[in-house]
Amino acid sequence: MSIEQGPALVSALHSLRGSDMKIGIIGAGNIGGTIARKLAAAGHSIKMAGSKGPDDIREKAADIGAVPVTAQDAVKDVDVVILSIPFAQIPKVASVFADVPSNVVVIDTGNYYPFRDGTIADVDNGKPESIWASEQLGHPVVKAFNALLAETLVNGGTDEGTIGRIAIPVAGDDAEAKTVARDLVNETGFDALDAGDLARSWRQQPGTPAYCTELTLPELREALSAANKARAPIDRDALIKSFMEEKSPLSHEQIVARNRAVTASR
Ligand SMILES: NC(=O)c1ccc[n+]([C@@H]2O[C@H](COP(=O)([O-])OP(=O)(O)OC[C@H]3O[C@@H](n4cnc5c(N)ncnc54)[C@H](OP(=O)(O)O)[C@@H]3O)[C@@H](O)[C@H]2O)c1
Repeated sequence: MSIEQGPALVSALHSLRGSDMKIGIIGAGNIGGTIARKLAAAGHSIKMAGSKGPDDIREKAADIGAVPVTAQDAVKDVDVVILSIPFAQIPKVASVFADVPSNVVVIDTGNYYPFRDGTIADVDNGKPESIWASEQLGHPVVKAFNALLAETLVNGGTDEGTIGRIAIPVAGDDAEAKTVARDLVNETGFDALDAGDLARSWRQQPGTPAYCTELTLPELREALSAANKARAPIDRDALIKSFMEEKSPLSHEQIVARNRAVTASR
């Protein structure tokens, strides 16, 4: 790197990590909509898209402080794309990523639930969900915001440095992209733990001890290392079955407690 390139590169990095990034969000539901609201409040420029076009989410977007767009427009002229749609829908949006420059950070919040998403053989056979997602999109992804409940995302965030702050894992292969994602996680009210590369990201998938269990940073580190790849889908399906069999809705605290109990080491 030459002396002239140094400051330019540093300033480019700062602008990516600055407080006013251009962010496109595909998926305006529980997770995408809440991330949009929090990041708009933090000063970022947010565009967001649902499956039915901008008119369908115009009111919601206005309330959030985001611009409603199509999925095609959500990925144009942005620093970051956040993909937050049902997992099985990912191939349907792949075409909009064809011209997305490789330096655009794409964050995948997705989780695979066969009862909802149908069967995806590659993932059932052990391919980490976000590797599958990245292959569908033809673009690298960072896995973040997948391992917290929507209710936690809305109400569980706290200021940086708060004792007992909830931490969530962030996995990916590109260190700089992961730093951008971790900064965004922090701005939404959570500590971000570097969970390693995408190949290790099965450790934060449904049915693992790190998934939707509201842990602090040191607890999350332990939970990630305690994950068992063969057991995770079994615990995922057992948990969903038990939630669906409940006659009256469980409280948020009961859901988190059950996630912890079922996935705990034994
Ligand atoms: N809910 C949770 O607690 C939670 C927690 C962590 C991660 N996640 C994961 O995050 C993802 C999103 O979950 P969510 O709870 O936010 O789902 P959601 O509330 O059902 O919202 C899904 C959003 O995706 C949009 N969408 C669906 N298909 C699309 C397509 N083909 N093109 C563009 N937009 C499309 C929907 O638009 P329309 O309404 O127009 O169809 C909706 O805005 C899922 O993979 C989920 O597993 C969920």
